[in-house]
Amino acid sequence: MSDPATSEGREPGEDAVARLDALTGEDGRALLAELAGHDVTGTDGLRLGTALRRRYPAQLVVDAMGQQELRARAAGKFAGAADMFFTRAGWEQASAEVVSAHRAARFAGAAAMADLCCGIGGDLVALARDREVLGVDRDPVHLWMARRNAFVHGVAGNVTVRRSDVRDVDLSGVDAVFVDPARRTARGRRPVGDSEPPLDWCMALAERVPRVGIKAAPGLPHETVPAGWELEFVAVDRDLKEATAWSPALATARTRATILPGGHTLVGSPGDPVPVRGPGAFLLDPSPAVTRAGLVEDVARLTGAWKIDDRIAFLSTDTLVRTPFARTLQVIDSGPWHQKQLPERLRRLDIGAVDIRRRGLAGDVDALQKRLRLTGSRRATLVMTRVSDRPWALVCVDISPDVSP
Ligand SMILES: C[S@@+](CC[C@H](N)C(=O)[O-])C[C@H]1O[C@@H](n2cnc3c(N)ncnc32)[C@H](O)[C@@H]1O
Repeated sequence: MSDPATSEGREPGEDAVARLDALTGEDGRALLAELAGHDVTGTDGLRLGTALRRRYPAQLVVDAMGQQELRARAAGKFAGAADMFFTRAGWEQASAEVVSAHRAARFAGAAAMADLCCGIGGDLVALARDREVLGVDRDPVHLWMARRNAFVHGVAGNVTVRRSDVRDVDLSGVDAVFVDPARRTARGRRPVGDSEPPLDWCMALAERVPRVGIKAAPGLPHETVPAGWELEFVAVDRDLKEATAWSPALATARTRATILPGGHTLVGSPGDPVPVRGPGAFLLDPSPAVTRAGLVEDVARLTGAWKIDDRIAFLSTDTLVRTPFARTLQVIDSGPWHQKQLPERLRRLDIGAVDIRRRGLAGDVDALQKRLRLTGSRRATLVMTRVSDRPWALVCVDISPDVSP
């Protein structure tokens, strides 16, 4: 729901909150129930809107259709999206359920927390399952939604919300703090490391309450996080979602890679240097959480793999290994990169479609795709990379899940 221009004499956001209240009134609930499951976009949406305006106030229809559209979009993040309330920016910035549940578990033992910049309550509902949480946001619309979404998730009894600038909140009585500062403005994303409130302010919270977790962009440079803090990179399947900086009271490593939904987590440990050799029968493509955490060598030691180049984050083995920290591909062809010979090489292998994976080698992937003109029956991953600093091409295929290592 947009925050409409406020009427004279009203606090900013009051009109938008009144419209949200209307959506939870008798008519609003009936209307939202009618819209459930409908695609409210495109011409179907226009037709539906026209029909509904004959029975409901026009503003209520606009707002309910807006919610229905956002609920449909948010279904990938929240199992209970169909009953939740969102703004577009609030939904986009909200932590996905699987991530917030993992993060909440790291606050185990905290009995009373503050969720600073709680937004529409994505993290709040996960944190409030096991403890009392004070949710703070200066946006009245988000705060209304945070409270409502806590109710939808059955945790309202553990939640108090306060409309305030987070800088003005008294944190006495709170034994842990989570803060998710805004990383965008109305005009778009802020540069990595820039947020409101700023990262420095968020980190200084640890001087008041030792247990602090700060959600950050996954591109946050390691050096931004002071010594003693942990930087955890979180991927859901192979999508790098976010980073969390943990204060020394909660840190157990310098960096960590966590892969959800399995909850696999990896921290660095000292070990022998990883050898560098040419590609073997299998290629391991580490999770982006592993590469961002700088833990590629740890995955190599864990799996007995070697590096195919000193500076490239691909690993290789001769025996099939499976790890949650990397995707394993079978190498069916490997050789120096010769662009002219590539179509013929792929034709001989009966390849009809390729996903191109490029690391350490420049090139226009789209232009290459067009030039290949493949006709075979197999699908493959074409890896453009470097081996001992030479441009290299690997043709790889997925390993069927029933092949055991
Ligand atoms: C990234 S969103 C929070 C998302 C939330 N963790 C979730 O999962 O739904 C950031 C929120 O910070 C709020 N905000 C930004 N600066 C603030 C400040 N100084 N005081 C209070 N709230 C602030 C914005 O209104 C916005 O709702």
